[in-house]
Amino acid sequence: MAPLKNGGCPLSTPDAIRWHNDQLQLLDQRRLPAHCDYLSYDDAESVATAIRDMVVRGAPAIGITAAYGMALAARRCTSQPSVAAWTQALDTPRRALADSRPTAVNLFWALQRCDSIIEQYGNGGDVAGALLELAKALHAEDIHINRRIGDHGASLIPENSIVYTHCNAGALATGGYGTALGVIRSAWRDGRLRGVIAGETRPWMQGARLTSWELMQDNIPVTLAIEGAAAQLMRELRPSWVIVGADRVAANGDAANKIGTYNLAIIARHHGVKVMVAAPTSTFDRNIDGPQIPIEQRPAEEITHSYGQRVAPEGCQVSNPAFDVTPAALIDAIVTEHGVIYQPDRERVLAHLNAAEDA
Ligand code: MRU
Repeated sequence: MAPLKNGGCPLSTPDAIRWHNDQLQLLDQRRLPAHCDYLSYDDAESVATAIRDMVVRGAPAIGITAAYGMALAARRCTSQPSVAAWTQALDTPRRALADSRPTAVNLFWALQRCDSIIEQYGNGGDVAGALLELAKALHAEDIHINRRIGDHGASLIPENSIVYTHCNAGALATGGYGTALGVIRSAWRDGRLRGVIAGETRPWMQGARLTSWELMQDNIPVTLAIEGAAAQLMRELRPSWVIVGADRVAANGDAANKIGTYNLAIIARHHGVKVMVAAPTSTFDRNIDGPQIPIEQRPAEEITHSYGQRVAPEGCQVSNPAFDVTPAALIDAIVTEHGVIYQPDRERVLAHLNAAEDA
């Protein structure tokens, strides 16, 4: 896993994920924006560790990465005689990938897509090659999907708007272009935006390190703020929308996203600011409601320490949920590649998903 030094970050958002020299390469997002280092992977277990350790993050990017991980795993297997034998041979790496992060449903969606390939090719044929083709297709398709989300979402934004975003749901969190930042990119292109407020997003600082950086490279005016400034800034600056991504949208329209999103939605409602969740249909989970979404607890050190220095007293108890669930009642619109779900509830979410399947 030798890092490939680029010698500083380029002036447009680099790919978070790339297939290069017959290897998976991930941009090490922990070191952005100061360093653009790609790490190379040729086995699924290391890919799982990279997902858990936040080398790559963001729901769609995690799913795409897992699909490449399965392709790497299959490449390491000797040829198997049947679907059952392939499933058995790939069980350990599949489990490692599935266990890497629990909240983003795109991970499990991508693994199920891999299972379908194994079922098609497992009785003969090039399973590893077919999995690699699938990973590449999911990667390319995600960019296309994000552009469609961007255009649907941008049409909801009034001219001369300020919008508020949280965490990073940009090119870095996806195959490219972004979901929430895709909407923002499209709205900027259409001349609707005056500026963006980006919450810094503790403890990983995705807003400070990634979102502000992505937007600045596209010359989109962005103002970085601490989380605690949200209410004051909504009162002063009157953004038209809070626009966020999602890690899982439940059947009842509740949406899990980066911790702090729920706070923002409550503050937004108080100030008459609308809330938009931008997510592909692969982020929906029709099997559960919001309260059942598994919420990842991350290590205490992410809060007790800052850049390697202890900031909290020794022995201090910590709660570090990485995500929260915003109730559907606080969401004005969920935007997917197929259009807009206004005032989401169970009936509207399921109707949207059914129509998307039939399309
Ligand atoms: O912990 P992270 O950085 O993976 O969390 C990312 C988010 O919460 C994003 O908003 C979400 O995955 C949507 S990315 C298009």
